Amino acid sequence: MTRTRTQVGIVGAGPAGLMLGHLLHLHGIDSVILEDRSEHYVIDRVRAGVLEQGTVDLMHEIGVGARLAVEGLRHEGIYIAFGGARHRIDLARLTGGRAITVYGQNEVVKDLIAAREATGRPLYFEASEVAVDDITSNRPRLTCRADGVMHTIDCEFLAGCDGFHGICRPSIPSEQLRVYEREYPFAWLGILANAAPSSDELVYSLHERGFALFSMRSPSVTRLYLQCAPDEDITQWPDDRIWAELRARLGTTDGWMPAEGAITQKGVTPMRSFVAEPMQYGNLFLAGDAAHIVPPTGAKGLNLAVADVWRLAQALGEFYTSGRRHLLDRYSAEALRRTWRAQRFSWWMTSMLHRSDSDNPFDHRRQLAELDYLVSSEAAMTSLAENYVGLPLL
Ligand code: APR
Ligand code: PHB
Repeated sequence: MTRTRTQVGIVGAGPAGLMLGHLLHLHGIDSVILEDRSEHYVIDRVRAGVLEQGTVDLMHEIGVGARLAVEGLRHEGIYIAFGGARHRIDLARLTGGRAITVYGQNEVVKDLIAAREATGRPLYFEASEVAVDDITSNRPRLTCRADGVMHTIDCEFLAGCDGFHGICRPSIPSEQLRVYEREYPFAWLGILANAAPSSDELVYSLHERGFALFSMRSPSVTRLYLQCAPDEDITQWPDDRIWAELRARLGTTDGWMPAEGAITQKGVTPMRSFVAEPMQYGNLFLAGDAAHIVPPTGAKGLNLAVADVWRLAQALGEFYTSGRRHLLDRYSAEALRRTWRAQRFSWWMTSMLHRSDSDNPFDHRRQLAELDYLVSSEAAMTSLAENYVGLPLL
């Protein structure tokens, strides 16, 4: 058994925990990061890949943007497809030059792990039996088993960055939390294919057969998604069936369709909207998926996690330089304000672009009218664009 101390104990080495650790390091604040999975698992799991302008700017500002600058794909527009036609929304023109960058979450995580290693501050993978205790005291504790030894870490603050299934949110007494939740009657079947992307920009499509999305990871890898059932059996989807469905849902009358290639990964992504309020209990602060989940349609999950930890690091920075708790006290309310804006946007994108069994013909015509309005009104396109590239971090 070992006993050590730190200023901030961070649970979880996803984008939220790793980014928080790095931001705190730049403020001169010590932290310990505990992750229950292996480094390999954390890097390799397939996740989202769209960075908002503010996330890109932050990565450059904090010195983790070198590979992003070379390998990230800056996109100044997106396409919305329906009725057999693609309509471009010029994100950069509508937002004064802001854009999104396609760069896989696993690449972000790789860059942040390298930055952590360069600081020499502790990051434990494969930590089991992780627990948080005394969270309302000014000496909250982290315990875990790592390398066969039990570790106790005395902290001043705890950051719950352990995702939706983590232990931090459940350690808050349930009567102290209010949970808001919405499930959707569909999911996404996602694939990675070794195919050069046949469009320079993403295509979000609503077809009578359901939603489909064309995205990418690199100049040689295409990422594609199809709306499917929440309990979809992936074994019922041989490659040929996937391509036939993608061609049907994405192909437009000008002859465009996704280029095909060997499928290297397949999976089903569930869809959920979830918020737990407040994002603080005692000296435990929640950030990222531990506090909220958005459906993937607006590509907001990773960016929201980054916005949370940016805010939390500012607040802890203020505390350690001046002793003031002003920003810490406002953390939950301010983070939730951004969260709810992202929830609204993600819900709106999702409902505009998916078909549901409970929809009737009226609903479908209404969706088409909404899409028609979206792509023909400067005001509607501007509203989508400013949310999609991301509201400024403030
Ligand atoms: N102890 C230690 N680590 C844990 C525990 C635990 N008990 N439970 C979970 N974790 C780890 C997970 O293994 C994971 O690596 O916490 C990490 C949480 O990371 P993410 O799930 O990636 O969540 P977050 O960092 O908030 O990033 C949000 O992830 O789900 C996507 O779309 C979402 O892109 C967004 C991003
Ligand atoms: C992705 O490339 O994984 C992706 C892109 C856009 C989304 C969601 C996911 O809205």
